[in-house]
Amino acid sequence: MERIPVIFDCDTGIDDAIAILLALKIPAFDIKGFTCVAGNTPLPKVLRNTGHVLELAGVDLPVYAGADKPLFADATAPTAEHVHGKNGLGDLEFDDPKRAPESMKAWDYIYEEAKRQNGALELIATAPLTNLAMAFLKYKELPKLIRRIVIMGGAASYGNVTPAAEFNIYTDPEAAEIVFNSGVPVHMVGLDVTLKAWFNAEESEKLSAVNEQGMFCHLVGRGEMRYSLGHGFPGMCLHDPCAVIYAAYPELYKTDTVGVHVETLGKYTRGKTVTDFLSDKQFPVKNAVIVYDVDREAFRDKVFELIGSYSA
Ligand code: RIB
Ligand code: CA
Repeated sequence: MERIPVIFDCDTGIDDAIAILLALKIPAFDIKGFTCVAGNTPLPKVLRNTGHVLELAGVDLPVYAGADKPLFADATAPTAEHVHGKNGLGDLEFDDPKRAPESMKAWDYIYEEAKRQNGALELIATAPLTNLAMAFLKYKELPKLIRRIVIMGGAASYGNVTPAAEFNIYTDPEAAEIVFNSGVPVHMVGLDVTLKAWFNAEESEKLSAVNEQGMFCHLVGRGEMRYSLGHGFPGMCLHDPCAVIYAAYPELYKTDTVGVHVETLGKYTRGKTVTDFLSDKQFPVKNAVIVYDVDREAFRDKVFELIGSYSA
């Protein structure tokens, strides 16, 4: 099998951590490195959390620091610590990772790796898109070297930070608009589908019995599970794992080709991924694939299969 070179861009919080564990076990992916950006929690904690998850996975891969704030620093960058905990990982306690982040900046690493992979590189981004935007702004030839970008972010329907905007896009709308208009095909795995990719309490308990990595997924998500169930959801939405599983197993999902632009000015709509499903009447350039449905049980089974492969 021809493996796909991948860089994983994250703001390691709870669902990023689970997504990283899954991605590392997907046979088709040859993950080259992780780039980190502020989002769920400030950048230093994102770096520490990412390093910890890689140690839990038993892999030795490089981690690169990127942006510690959105492109326009006066933008009010939210964190999601009310969901992910003060340390970003459900306030689980763990030692500092042994391996320090690399000295090269995330956007410079993306360019260097893209050149090395000579056009085959794919980006998976489960975070605000500041690092990717910085790379595109600094290296004009970069779009020709990136095969595809899969993001967890946005939604054609509604938001989770405001009625219009999803967290990753809301945190840096300007960066998102740059990425959607980079010329690289963007696969948008947004709330339209990730709200359907949930685990209930029983499934999370069952995962905890699989192995150490399954126990981590259960423990790290306990607080979010309680919060989700307490707010009428059937379980905890695995937003970032939904995007990672889509990237490797699209047959479990439903998609459409659309045009997407990101609102950056609207008083009520800043951060909205405005999505055009029609023909070229509105947004003539169909720059994105929207993922809008998933076979939840098949998604769940794939999560169990991949986490289970840590103890195979
Ligand atoms: O809206 C959900 C997204 O925001 C996920 O990527 C979660 O980790 C947070 O970054
Ligand atoms: Ca994330």
